[in-house]
Amino acid sequence: MTVERFGDPSGMAMTDAPVPAPGPGELVIGTEAIGVGGVDAVIRRGTISGYGITTGLILGSEVAGTVTAVGTDVDESWVGRRAWAFTGLGGGYAEQALAQVDDVVALPEELSSIDSVALGTSAPVAHFALAHAHFAPGESVLVRGAAGSIGVATVELAAQGGASAVAVTTSSAERGARLRELGATHVLDRSGDGDPDAPASFDVIVDIVGGPDTAEFVDRLAPNGRMVLVGAVAGFPPADFGGRLLSAFQQSRSVATFSLDSVPIPARDAVRADQFGAAARGELHAVVHDVLPLAQAAEAHQQMDDGTVFGRIVLVP
Ligand SMILES: NC(=O)c1ccc[n+]([C@@H]2O[C@H](COP(=O)([O-])OP(=O)(O)OC[C@H]3O[C@@H](n4cnc5c(N)ncnc54)[C@H](OP(=O)(O)O)[C@@H]3O)[C@@H](O)[C@H]2O)c1
Repeated sequence: MTVERFGDPSGMAMTDAPVPAPGPGELVIGTEAIGVGGVDAVIRRGTISGYGITTGLILGSEVAGTVTAVGTDVDESWVGRRAWAFTGLGGGYAEQALAQVDDVVALPEELSSIDSVALGTSAPVAHFALAHAHFAPGESVLVRGAAGSIGVATVELAAQGGASAVAVTTSSAERGARLRELGATHVLDRSGDGDPDAPASFDVIVDIVGGPDTAEFVDRLAPNGRMVLVGAVAGFPPADFGGRLLSAFQQSRSVATFSLDSVPIPARDAVRADQFGAAARGELHAVVHDVLPLAQAAEAHQQMDDGTVFGRIVLVP
């Protein structure tokens, strides 16, 4: 599935391409499930230029399936094993996908490929974002933009980590109810209002939304509170939002960015493997919004553009 024209989803097309040949350090996965991520939509829209992105690009950064071939220096025992893989900025929306062996994690038998691509990126982001915020048991947490795949994982991990409260922002009561099932204790609207019993301030805010309202949420940090910006679904915060920190100097608040790219690959893979194990035991939950055929990738993207996705859409070839 390639992008033939940047813009709306109608610019995507099913295309015949040769089976990729693995080079040194690479392997090929026959895909059984393909995760549809927010970054795929950003690339499809043409918002990101550079990085070698041109029309004809195969979208998709997260796949799972069975290894079909390995490069000359890669352990041949990978062939035939079920695995999850990060494929980079593209290459995932395909029947055969190429990945670096360092970005591949073996899958437990009990975990479906579909569930693994709902968790493989988002759950490590949630784990390391909470760690980046120095989250500790007994602290209160607010997850801003909790209905996406990163948000649902952050809610569940914060609750399991012993948070005293896990508040979420979301746009509907129905989504709020589903987030409560994952461990949310307070459901707020997108402005952070709507529950008089919610804590007035939070030790940790994981912000997946960004945009102009970020400054208002800085004001919701408790003394010594930490906000970690994980995403920018509503765009970057205004350049002067740091003024809110300075005007509350005596509160000793912090704001940080966090990207999984800054975590060493072995640490990412170790946490991912642990989380796959937890999911296989039913201790961590993949939230799959819908499973669609690869040929309907444009429909999946339309749902993302419409904001109707709760968790993650998965494509199957
Ligand atoms: N830091 C990292 O390492 C990393 C890795 C991968 C991706 N990302 C970033 O994470 C983001 C995608 O995460 P995701 O897939 O979990 O999110 P998502 O599903 O795209 O969005 C999360 C939720 O935000 C809410 N939302 C959307 N627009 C909003 C707005 N204008 N104002 C307030 N709320 C809004 C929606 O929920 P409601 O309608 O319920 O409010 C939506 O479900 C992207 O910015 C991506 O670049 C970061």
